[in-house]
Amino acid sequence: MWKGRFQQPTSALVQRYGESVSFDWRLYAHDIRGSIAHAKGLEKAGILTTAEREAIERGLLQIRDEIAGGDFAWSQELEDVHMNIESTLTKRIGPAGAKLHTARSRNDQVATDVRLYSRDAIDSLIALTRELQRALVECAERGADAVMPGYTHLQRGQPVLFAHHLLAYVEMFARDAERLADARKRVNVMPLGSGALAGSTIILDREFVARELGFDGVTQNSMDAVSDRDFVVELLFTIALQGVHLSRLSEDVILWASAEFGFIHLSDAHTTGSSLMPQKKNPDVAELTRGKSGRLVGNLMALLTLLKGLPMTYNRDMQEDKEPLFDSLETITLALEVFTEMVRGMDVNRDRTAAAASDPLLLATDLADYLVLKGVPFRQAHEVIGKLVAHCLSTGRPFPELSLEDYRQFSDAFGDDVFAVLKMDAALAARKGIGAPSPANVAGRLRHWRESLA
Ligand code: ARG
Repeated sequence: MWKGRFQQPTSALVQRYGESVSFDWRLYAHDIRGSIAHAKGLEKAGILTTAEREAIERGLLQIRDEIAGGDFAWSQELEDVHMNIESTLTKRIGPAGAKLHTARSRNDQVATDVRLYSRDAIDSLIALTRELQRALVECAERGADAVMPGYTHLQRGQPVLFAHHLLAYVEMFARDAERLADARKRVNVMPLGSGALAGSTIILDREFVARELGFDGVTQNSMDAVSDRDFVVELLFTIALQGVHLSRLSEDVILWASAEFGFIHLSDAHTTGSSLMPQKKNPDVAELTRGKSGRLVGNLMALLTLLKGLPMTYNRDMQEDKEPLFDSLETITLALEVFTEMVRGMDVNRDRTAAAASDPLLLATDLADYLVLKGVPFRQAHEVIGKLVAHCLSTGRPFPELSLEDYRQFSDAFGDDVFAVLKMDAALAARKGIGAPSPANVAGRLRHWRESLA
């Protein structure tokens, strides 16, 4: 492609070092789409005749079908996906093919391809995220009556509904989908027409080409356009954070599936056995997902580090953006798919969650609130209940077994309505502020999600 200036062929080692076709072949459909639109721009500018533009389009579509069918011979000497496709086209259709690269550089071409590819990937990730949200909502609905302890510091804190706990993740994934949609706005701007770095003396109608490709607009600075990979960083960040969310959910699933918790059943299809210990049923899907989140964070770091200190404009370093991007997209896609399947086969063990939630100490805060409603300042109420808890623990008599006289030794604000506070149903129903886990609130949120995810 640059033989004009060179007297020596590229060293075989340099070719191996610099080739990207072994991974950027994935861009082929988007590269071809971009080239077809560019050819239309060239036709409009009078550089290509309609017949030439049609020959290009036919040739490119044929190449696309061959690649999709696995019948295309990629060549490492041609370095990347762009040159492989262009060179095959030119070999087949002759001079028209050789005109295709007019007013275009691989620098604006690759930036355009990666944007088109990222845009499709974002749309697919949003759909997969919604599918996982649906699976979580369905699992929450199947266990809608299950009460469990909510934890801080992995210590039992206050009672919640299992559904409320799962819906926390539905909220998280909603933010991920929102972040993806937001990132898409900055992805969907067309760099094509920026050339190598300074545009071209041959003027194409960029707005027209952008419309052909479904871009919302065109970039406004040719130097920024060919060197900008912020949109890849944003996408990798969004994926890394979503991976972190999946990892946190994984950790809950792993704990819940242990004999110590026993809060959930996972289906046989989504667990594995041990080659040595016949009794084992391991939550490998959750463990793998927790592990893979490391790769997603690593890919983000790789790209930030790669861009740091790069001078204007395109530098070959930027070819290294693709493997982290493809890896993160493939990893998160599979993680979302397999997690959705696992959650569809996951059910709460309501006896075990109820047994854990029957710990009367979960209602210690409720007792403090009770005293507050009797006029005791909260700090004082907190101390009274603290002493009461110490008494329960040292005497082995939980809250419900104490008499009114016992209570009144700690504060004379206690009356015989204190026993009503200790009923779990009432305790949950009382948590009816916006966002709190009363059964009515949780039912409302389940309805909200069922409708907004439909
Ligand atoms: N394969 C290259 C990349 O992904 C395409 C752009 C090459 N441009 C260049 N001036 N060598 O970055």
